[in-house]
Amino acid sequence: MKVVESIAQWKALRPRLTRSLGLVPTMGYLHEGHLSLVRRARAENEVVVVWIFVNPKQFGKGEDFQTYPRDAEADLRALEALDTDYVLSPGVDDVYPPGFQTTVSVAVLSKPLEGVSRPGHFDGVATVVAKMTCLTQPARAYFGQKDAQQTVVVRRMVEDLGMLTEIVVCPTIREPDGLAMSSRNAYLSPEERRAAAVLYRALQNAGRQYQAGERQGDALRGQMRAAIGAEPLATLEYAALVHPETLVELTSVDGPALALVAAQFGSTHLIDNLLIGEK
Ligand code: PAJ
Repeated sequence: MKVVESIAQWKALRPRLTRSLGLVPTMGYLHEGHLSLVRRARAENEVVVVWIFVNPKQFGKGEDFQTYPRDAEADLRALEALDTDYVLSPGVDDVYPPGFQTTVSVAVLSKPLEGVSRPGHFDGVATVVAKMTCLTQPARAYFGQKDAQQTVVVRRMVEDLGMLTEIVVCPTIREPDGLAMSSRNAYLSPEERRAAAVLYRALQNAGRQYQAGERQGDALRGQMRAAIGAEPLATLEYAALVHPETLVELTSVDGPALALVAAQFGSTHLIDNLLIGEK
């Protein structure tokens, strides 16, 4: 495994990699969710590149850029064990040198849901994913369903800009109580950690109601809101039921539907989602 910390070094190296390349973009502090993407990339590509970069452009003012958890040593150990070929982990000034002024903005899909409380977040994501895709030119790039809106934004960008990379979306990896794994779970107090399982319970309830015949968007949303509202340590941000590609709210479910929830536990913002409805 080779760790590349400079973009110039990577640019010198990339032309020699002629075999199919799988890219796993991350911000590090790797957990089983990230590692599931690496395993999938390992199975499907000849060369595996893991990108580790805590991207300042996707954090808003007052968000946790400075305190975002980092553990480079543990990350490298885990990636080595999975037979990763390259870890690309440039510094902030290397990715955004003085004079940097380009933003990639996926105009409409970036606005709802996470975009409401985190304006500019998806511009930061799209810009860095565009840059790392240009730098690595992967055959495939791997993303987690956990960040559903991110996958929709990235797919749109790749399509709109004609990037020759296949976006592969992998299932959400969960803790035994259903909580989606996230680097931010490390912020939770033991009480908040217990409470956070309510997000997946709310989604599962909605899924069960759908199975039992409920098709009204308002009823399914109301059910998720009530479940999260009943947890005193959770402050609901949204409970939505949208079309999985357009992210437009559904009045009724008669095809594919994506249920999404977000809540604060203390000062920690957590999200989760579940696909329901017929594909
Ligand atoms: P990060 O939060 O580190 O996540 C990296 C990738 O791991 C994302 O595609 C995310 O959806 C996936 N992931 C996280 N938790 C997961 C889980 N429990 N199960 C499955 N996949 C999971 O997402 C980002 O970083 C950044 O926005 C990035 C795309 C790297 C751009 O900076």
